[in-house]
Amino acid sequence: MNDRLARLRSDWREQVGEAVAWLEPRGFTGLTGLILGSGLGNFVDALDGAEAVDYGEIPGFTTTSVAEHKGRLVVGDAAGRRVLVMQGRLHPYEGLPAETMLLPTAVLSCLGIGEAVVTNAAGGLNHHYIPGELMVIRDHLDMHGHDPLRGLLVDPIPPAEAPGRAARPSAAYDKDLARLMLESGAESGVPLHAGVYASMWGPAYETKAEIGMLRRFGCDAVGMSTAPEVMLLKALDVRVAGLSCITNPAREVGQPELSHGDVVEAGLMVRDRMARLLLAFLPRLAG
Ligand code: HPA
Repeated sequence: MNDRLARLRSDWREQVGEAVAWLEPRGFTGLTGLILGSGLGNFVDALDGAEAVDYGEIPGFTTTSVAEHKGRLVVGDAAGRRVLVMQGRLHPYEGLPAETMLLPTAVLSCLGIGEAVVTNAAGGLNHHYIPGELMVIRDHLDMHGHDPLRGLLVDPIPPAEAPGRAARPSAAYDKDLARLMLESGAESGVPLHAGVYASMWGPAYETKAEIGMLRRFGCDAVGMSTAPEVMLLKALDVRVAGLSCITNPAREVGQPELSHGDVVEAGLMVRDRMARLLLAFLPRLAG
C-alpha cells in the first residue's frame, strides 16, 4: 500500500484511498502540488495539457461553499513540470470536520507529490506590506486552538527516523524551497517579503485588538486557511512552500469594513505576479 495512505487512521484511509483509486487511473498524478487560495485559481490557465475534474465528481469530496473557489482538481504541465492543482479549498470557517476539510490535501499527498506550494489571500499586519505584494511564509501561528490532525494519523508522533523513510523535515516550511522561491522572485522581478502567517478561524475578519495581538506575537500576515493543510502535508513528509498574497492591510479603526469581494478583487491584482513567480519557481525543482 501507498506509504502515506498507510499512515492515515483506518476509516480515513479508506475514504482517501477510494478517491486516490478513482483519480490515479485517470492521470491525476504529479510531481508538485499547488493549493490555490481565494482569487488565485486562474493559475491553471497557464497549464499545458490541463485536465480537470470537479470536486463533486470525486468520491468522498465535499464541494466548497465559497463562490470564488472553483472546487476542481486540475492536472497539467507548468514550465515543463507536472503539477497537480487544488483549485479551491475547504476552510476551517465552513465548520466541517477536519477529515472532510483536509480530505483533498490528503488525497493530493497520497497521489505522490514530492512538494506542495500552498497559497492564500491574506491581510498585511506588517506596516511595510502593501496590498498586491507577496510574502513567502517562513512559519505560521495556528490560532485555531486545536490541532486538526488529532485522531487522523495512525502514529501521531512518529520517531524522528523510521527505517526506510527519509529524514523528516525539521520545519513546517522547507527552508530550501523558501530560498528557491526568493531566488525565483529576484529572477522574475516579483518583489517578495518573507514572514510569519497567522491562521485564524474566520469567517469574521479580525478585531482591532486581535490585529494588535497578532502584531505583538510577531505575525506579518493574517488569513483563514493554510496552517491545517501545511501540518498534514508535513506529517506526510511532503515538503512545503507557502505564499501569501497580501490583498489588504489588516483592518483598523477608520477603515471601511472588509468584504470578501474586496479581497477577491485585490487577489485578481496579485495573481499575475504569483503566476510569474511560480513559473520561475517550478523549473528550479529537481527530480
Ligand atoms: N484577515 C483574514 N483573512 C484575510 C484577510 C484579512 O485581513 N485578507 C484576506 N484574507
